Amino acid sequence: MPSVIQVRPQAACATVEELSKKTVKLADGAELPLIGLGTWESSKGEVEAAVSAALNAGYRHFDCAPVYRNEHEVGRALAHGGVPRSELWITSKLWNDRRRPADVREALEQTLASLQTDYLDLYLIHWPVVWARNTVMKPDSLASLAECWRTLEALVDEGKVRHIGVSNFGEVELAALLSTARIKPAVNQIELHPRLPQTALVEYCQRNGIVVTAYSPLGRGTLKGANMLSSPTVQELAARHAVSPAAVLLRWNLQRGVVVIPKSTNPGRLAANLEEPWRFALSADEPLALDGVPHILLADAKACLRCMRRLQEIISKAALA
Ligand SMILES: NC(=O)c1ccc[n+]([C@@H]2O[C@H](COP(=O)([O-])OP(=O)(O)OC[C@H]3O[C@@H](n4cnc5c(N)ncnc54)[C@H](OP(=O)(O)O)[C@@H]3O)[C@@H](O)[C@H]2O)c1
Repeated sequence: MPSVIQVRPQAACATVEELSKKTVKLADGAELPLIGLGTWESSKGEVEAAVSAALNAGYRHFDCAPVYRNEHEVGRALAHGGVPRSELWITSKLWNDRRRPADVREALEQTLASLQTDYLDLYLIHWPVVWARNTVMKPDSLASLAECWRTLEALVDEGKVRHIGVSNFGEVELAALLSTARIKPAVNQIELHPRLPQTALVEYCQRNGIVVTAYSPLGRGTLKGANMLSSPTVQELAARHAVSPAAVLLRWNLQRGVVVIPKSTNPGRLAANLEEPWRFALSADEPLALDGVPHILLADAKACLRCMRRLQEIISKAALA
C-alpha cells in the first residue's frame, strides 16, 4: 500500500559553512567530502573508466566494498589517477561473514591490496549481522559484533584505517555498540531518500556525533524499475530550479547534513551529480512528499514473496507424495 511521506526539506542539520565547504566534519575534526561516488553494480570493465572520469570531474570520495566485486578495478583507477593518496577519501566495508579477529584482518588486507593503498579513510561493518565464514545467513555463535568492533579499534591504533563506522545499523544496534565502544562509530551509512527519510534515525546519529551517509540517494535511478527520478514532484522542483531531478534528490539529503554517494558510470551524469546540487537550495515551502515504497525494499519483498511461493510449492508437493 503506497504511503505519502511528508518530509521537511530543511532539517537544518548542515551548517551554511559546512555546505559551502562541501565537507562535513567527523567527531575527530577530519573532513569527509559531502558527495562521493558509489561503486555498487558498476560493472566490470566500466568502473575503472568511471572512477577515472570521477577523479577528473573532481571527486575525491569513493565508496567501495569487496562484495561489489570490483575493488581491484577501482584501485587501478585510483592508483593511476594522478591524485595524491592524501587527497582521497576511500571507504570500504567488511562483509557479513568476516567477524572473527583473524578474518577481519584478512579481509582488510585483501581490500587494501585490491584498492592499492596501505590504509583506508573509513572502514564500515557492512550489516549488523554475524555470519559464519563463507556462509550466507548462517549465524556464527563464536563471533560477535562487539568483538569485531574491538578488532576494528585495534586497526585504527595500528594506522591501517583512519576511521571506523557502520552501515545499515538502526538505533538498537547503535545503542549497543555505543555502550561498549572505545572508539565511537564515525559514520552510519544507510538507505536514505524522500521515500525512506528515516528522520528519527538520522537525528539519533547526529545527536550522538555520528555522521550519516545516504546510500541509494537517487532511489536507485531507473535500475530494475525504480522510478523516483520521474516522480512529478521531483520533476517539478527540478524544472523550477533548472537542475536535473537527481540534483533535487541529492540536495534534499545534503541540506539535512547527510553525505551522499550516488553511483554512476556515465561521465556526464557523474559530473552533474557532483556539481548541480551546489547551484540551488530547497526552501521550506518546497516539501518533498513522495508516494511509494523504496525500491530496494520492494525488490526484497518481491524476492521474499518468490521464496515463499517456492516454499509453498515444495511443501504442497511433499504433502502429496
Ligand atoms: N551500505 C550498503 O548496504 C549499500 C547498499 C546500497 C548501495 N550502497 C552504496 O551506495 C551507492 C549508491 O547507491 P545505489 O547504487 O544503490 O543507487 P543510486 O546511487 O541511488 O542510483 C544509481 C542509479 O542511478 C543512475 N544515475 C546516476 N546519476 C544519475 C543522474 N544524474 N540522472 C539519472 N540517473 C542517474 C545510475 O545509472 P548510470 O550509472 O547509468 O548513470 C544508476 O542506475 C552504491 O553504489 C554503493 O556504493 C551501499
